[in-house]
Amino acid sequence: MKRAALGYGVNVEVGEVLLSGTNYREKPSSMTQSMKFLITGGAGYIGSHTTLVLLRAGFDVVVLDNLCNASSESLKRVAQMAGRAPIFVEGDIRDRVLLDQLLAQHPVQAVLHFAGLKAVGESVTQPLLYYSNNVEGTVTLCKAMEAAGVFTLVFSSSATVYGDPVTVPITEDQPVGQTINPYGRSKLIAEQVLGDLAASDPRWRVALLRYFNPVGAHETGQIGEDPRGIPNNLLPYIARVAMGKLPELVVFGYDYPTVDGTGVRDYIHVMDLAEGHLAALSALKAKKSRVGVQVWNLGTGQGYSVLQILRAFEAASGRTVPYRLAPRRAGDVAISYANSAKAALELGWTAKRDLSTMMREAWRWQIMNPDGYQTGES
Ligand code: NAD
Ligand code: UD1
Repeated sequence: MKRAALGYGVNVEVGEVLLSGTNYREKPSSMTQSMKFLITGGAGYIGSHTTLVLLRAGFDVVVLDNLCNASSESLKRVAQMAGRAPIFVEGDIRDRVLLDQLLAQHPVQAVLHFAGLKAVGESVTQPLLYYSNNVEGTVTLCKAMEAAGVFTLVFSSSATVYGDPVTVPITEDQPVGQTINPYGRSKLIAEQVLGDLAASDPRWRVALLRYFNPVGAHETGQIGEDPRGIPNNLLPYIARVAMGKLPELVVFGYDYPTVDGTGVRDYIHVMDLAEGHLAALSALKAKKSRVGVQVWNLGTGQGYSVLQILRAFEAASGRTVPYRLAPRRAGDVAISYANSAKAALELGWTAKRDLSTMMREAWRWQIMNPDGYQTGES
C-alpha cells in the first residue's frame, strides 16, 4: 500500500492488492519501465478509468483530485482491479505550493490533466468558478510543471470547442471558437493557453484530446459515471429512468434534420477513451523532433440519435424507458460526430467497443451501484 506524504492536502491510503486483472495492452515501446505519471482529476469518471489503464500497463500513477465531483471510493476500486494502488493526494490544481511539493516528491514524466468542472448550466450561472478551475487551474499546473522540468501534457478537451460544426464528420482542422457557454469557452481558452505555451518553448509536448460523448463503464461494473443530483447528460439520465428513479426521459428536440428528428452524437466507450490517453502519451513520448501541440479527436466516427440510444439501452437492459418529446435545449447542435482518422493514423488507436457494449456496461454499472459510489462504500 502506498501513501502520499505531503504537507498539504489530505493523504489517503488507497486500496490493497485484492484482485489481479487482465492486461489491456502492452506497455508502448516509446515508454520505459518505471515511468510515473500525474493524473489530475483521476478520481473522476474518465480519470479513474484512465488510471486503471495506466496501472495495468505497468506505470506508476499519482492522482491529484480535490474530490469536488468524485469519491475516493473510485480509486479504492481501481486499486483492487489493478492489483496496485495509485498514490492519491487530495488537493486542488490551483494550489501551487501543493503542486510544487507533489512534483518534487514524485518526479513524473508527464501529466494527464482531467481536473476541471464540466456542467454547462452551472457554468452559465457561475462563470468565474469555471474560468478559475478550468483556465486558472491549467495555468497553475503548467507553471508548476515548468518549474519542475515536466513538459509533457495530455489535456482533456471537448468537441464542444467546434461549436456548431461546419460539416460532419468533424476533422481536427475545422474552425473552433463558436462556443456558446462559459464551460466551452474555458476549454477553448485552455487549449489556446497550451498552444501559446508550446509555441514559446520547444520542450513542451502537448496533446489536446477532443472527446466526443463518453459513456459506459468498466466491464466489471466496478467503476463508472456517478453524477451528483439530476444528470445533465443523456446516458446517466436514461439509466436513472430505467431504474425508476426518474419518471421519464425528456427528449430535447424532435425537428432536427436527422434520421428521426432527434439530436445525433458520437458516443464513445469510456474504456476506449481511456486507452486513447495511453496512445496519445506514447505518441508524445515517441517523437524525436519538436512536438508542440497535437490535436486528436477521440470519437468512434459514428453518430446515433437520441431515440436510437434509447432503443439500444432498452435492448441492453430489458427495461422500458418512458420518454416525452420536448422543444430543443438551448445551445444544442443537431449533429456532432468525429472524423477519427487522424487518431487512427497517428496514434494507432481506434475505438473498439460498439454501441450495445456501451449500453450493456452502462446498465451493469447502474444496477450494481444504484447509488453510485455510495453503494457498498468500502
Ligand atoms: P469528472 O467531474 O468526473 O472528473 C473531473 C475530476 O476533477 C473530478 O474528480 C473532480 O473532483 C476533479 N476536480 C475538479 N476541479 C478540480 C480542481 N480544481 N482541483 C483538483 N481536482 C478537481 O468529469 P469527467 O467526465 O471525468 O471529465 C474529465 C475531464 O474531461 C474534464 O476536464 C471535462 O471537462 C473533460 N470532458 C468531459 C466530457 C464528458 O462528457 N464527461 C466530455 C468532454 C470533455
Ligand atoms: C453536453 C454539453 C457539452 C459537454 C458534454 C459532455 C451542452 C449544450 N453540451 O454535450 O458542452 O462537453 O455534454 O459533458 O450541454 N438529451 C436529451 N435529454 C436529456 C439529455 C440529453 O434529449 O435529458 C439529448 C441532447 O439534446 C443531445 C444528446 O441527448 O442531443 C446528448 O446530450 P448530452 O449527453 O447532454 O451531451 P451533449 O449535448 O453532446
